[in-house]
Amino acid sequence: MKKMMAANWKMHKTRAEARESAATLIASLSSMPDDREVVIFAPYTALADCANEFAGKEGFSLGGQNVYSEDHGAFTGEISPAMLRDAGCTHVLTGHSERRALFHESSEAIGKKTAFALKQGLKVTLCIGETLEEREGGHLESVLREQLIKGVADVDDAVSDSDLAIAYEPVWAIGTGKVAGPVEILETHALVRKLLVERFPEQGRSIRILYGGSVKPDNASEIITLDNVDGVLVGGASLDAASMRQIVLA
Ligand code: PGA
Repeated sequence: MKKMMAANWKMHKTRAEARESAATLIASLSSMPDDREVVIFAPYTALADCANEFAGKEGFSLGGQNVYSEDHGAFTGEISPAMLRDAGCTHVLTGHSERRALFHESSEAIGKKTAFALKQGLKVTLCIGETLEEREGGHLESVLREQLIKGVADVDDAVSDSDLAIAYEPVWAIGTGKVAGPVEILETHALVRKLLVERFPEQGRSIRILYGGSVKPDNASEIITLDNVDGVLVGGASLDAASMRQIVLA
C-alpha cells in the first residue's frame, strides 16, 4: 500500500490561501513517486475550493478534520459525512488530540464518529496519542489501548485496510518542535501494530499507521523509513507548500 503523506491544516487558510497552497503543491509534485499519496485535511470553508484544484489529479485526496455521528438534524455547528462527501472529501480525521483536549471529545464519542463515517463511505484516520505525563507515568500502553479499542469499537470486523488508518501522535510532540526519537517511534508503532492485530486479526497487519508530531522536511526521511511507519500526519510544516513537498518526497 502507498505511504499516506497527510497534511492537517487545522484552523488555517482562507479559501484563496487554500487554493493557492493546493495548486502550488500539485504543480510541484507533478511526478509523484508511485508509493506515495497525499491527503490534505483542509478547513471546511476551503474544501470545495481544494476539491476543484484536486479534480482529476491522481494521488491527491481531500479530507475533513472532524465529523459528527449523525446524518442530519439539530446539531448546531456539526457536519455530517454526507456533507463532507458533497464538498469533495473522501477522507476524514477522528480523535485528533486537539479535539480530545480542547473540545472534550471522549473515546466513546470518537468511536461513534469513526464507525459512522466509515459506514457512510469515508476513509477514516483515527488519531491516538499519549501526554508526556501518561508516558512518564508508565501508562503508554493502557492509554493507546483505550483510545484505539474504543475508537474502533463499532467498526465492522471486516473493515478494509484501505479505509481505516491510525495516526499515532504523541501529544507532547504536537506543535512543540519536540519530535519523538526513532526508538520511541519504533517501539510505539510496534505496540499500535500489536493492538491492531489483536482487534483485526486479518487486516491488522496492513492497516496503515501514520506518525505525527513535529514532522519537518529535515526529519521526515528518517521517520518514514522506520518499521510500521506507513505515512505521516503533518501540521505546522504542511502549511507551506514547499516544505510539504519535501516531506512528501522524503
Ligand atoms: P504538528 O501537528 O506537525 O504541527 O506537530 C501535527 C498534528 O497535530 O497533526
